[in-house]
Amino acid sequence: MNFRQRIAELELPEDSYIVVGSGILAALGIRESRDIDLVVTDEAYKSIEKLGWEQGLWGDDIVFQRDVFDIGNDWYGKSATHLLKHAQIIEGVPYLSLDDVYEWKKQRGQEKDIRDIALIDDYRQMSREKTLKYYERLSSRLGYQFVLGGHRHFGWYKGGGHKTMIKAAEAIIDHLAEFSGIVPGSNVLDAGCGQGRSALQLAKKYGATVSGVDLVPRSISFAQRAAIGNKNVNFQIADYNTLPFKDNSFDVVFALETFTHSSDPERTIREFLRVLKPGGRIAIFDYSIAPLASMPRELSDAIHLIAKETDCPGFDTITHDYYGKLLPKLKVSSFEVINATEGVLPGIKNMYRLSWVPYHLLKIFKHQNDHPNLLMAHIGWQAGVRDYIRYINVKIVK
Ligand SMILES: C[S@@+](CC[C@H](N)C(=O)[O-])C[C@H]1O[C@@H](n2cnc3c(N)ncnc32)[C@H](O)[C@@H]1O
Repeated sequence: MNFRQRIAELELPEDSYIVVGSGILAALGIRESRDIDLVVTDEAYKSIEKLGWEQGLWGDDIVFQRDVFDIGNDWYGKSATHLLKHAQIIEGVPYLSLDDVYEWKKQRGQEKDIRDIALIDDYRQMSREKTLKYYERLSSRLGYQFVLGGHRHFGWYKGGGHKTMIKAAEAIIDHLAEFSGIVPGSNVLDAGCGQGRSALQLAKKYGATVSGVDLVPRSISFAQRAAIGNKNVNFQIADYNTLPFKDNSFDVVFALETFTHSSDPERTIREFLRVLKPGGRIAIFDYSIAPLASMPRELSDAIHLIAKETDCPGFDTITHDYYGKLLPKLKVSSFEVINATEGVLPGIKNMYRLSWVPYHLLKIFKHQNDHPNLLMAHIGWQAGVRDYIRYINVKIVK
């Protein structure tokens, strides 16, 4: 069942409803769901009441029922307006977040909840394994190693002068270090650090003390070898959604081209905020997209495919207005989102040129979509020029 289409049939105003119960499990493909439970604002509730739907009960609360829908105006004493503050948005639809559903199911503890908890655990584990699988692919490893010298991010081309791709990859770390306000003595967490290139540069050039975490053991081994003799950097295998650090530990959480891997961005940001000192900054450098419906079909299909194959659920869900909607809910001191596409476009154009021959050769055999990085190189430049895909710098102050 497509929740988005079914809910659109109700023509409810934006910000007047949230999907509660197990809906998010269906939206994330964890399991099917036969019904859609909605909590709506009082106003929307009154308008449904007038439609004469059947009445049922959620505990003591009256809900209106028709077809797949159960619609109430309260979820365990919380209104839609309250719940919307922590909603997880998927394809424009707000859901009770996976974390909240997990906690609710743990507390309720019925047999079906226990089954769902196991499914959520498997989903989280699988998501980690998919990331591992992608970065362990020989084509990913060779591509990043030989084309980008072990960096796994774009290059920065502002400031003039010809730059090799590797020099540009180093230049973006400088740009982002300045954007994040990293100074000598800053305690930095490099979340999703890959082979540790950024962490080492931040330590050597900016005098920061850096802890790097990544899911991929091979990358952490590379990073640890590269850091031998440098006391200001350390690396460990860890999931950045459950960080092995105390509250209020860091001045900066530096997340370079890793955030779209998160299957639950709000949860990830909350975890980053937990380990940040008051006044500390989260700095995210990643993509956002225009609404998929506004793009040519071929492009939105390619974006879906890249998101799936690279295990980046955020790549086809984080729209240009995403942070502007999410961050005010998280009670942060301030935030800014900057469109930095112009600074990376020359590099993306280079990648487009480099990918042209292999892409078209593979296309003859209908295999052009088998390599997500090649596909990204092929679509990225035009999509960037047309503002379908943006490269953004996000700074969030705790
Ligand atoms: C595109 S690479 C960027 C690596 C590095 N920041 C760089 O710029 O070279 C994304 C990295 O995020 C890591 N990653 C993805 N999800 C993660 C998670 N939940 N916890 C820790 N690392 C994660 C991946 O293993 C991968 O190394």
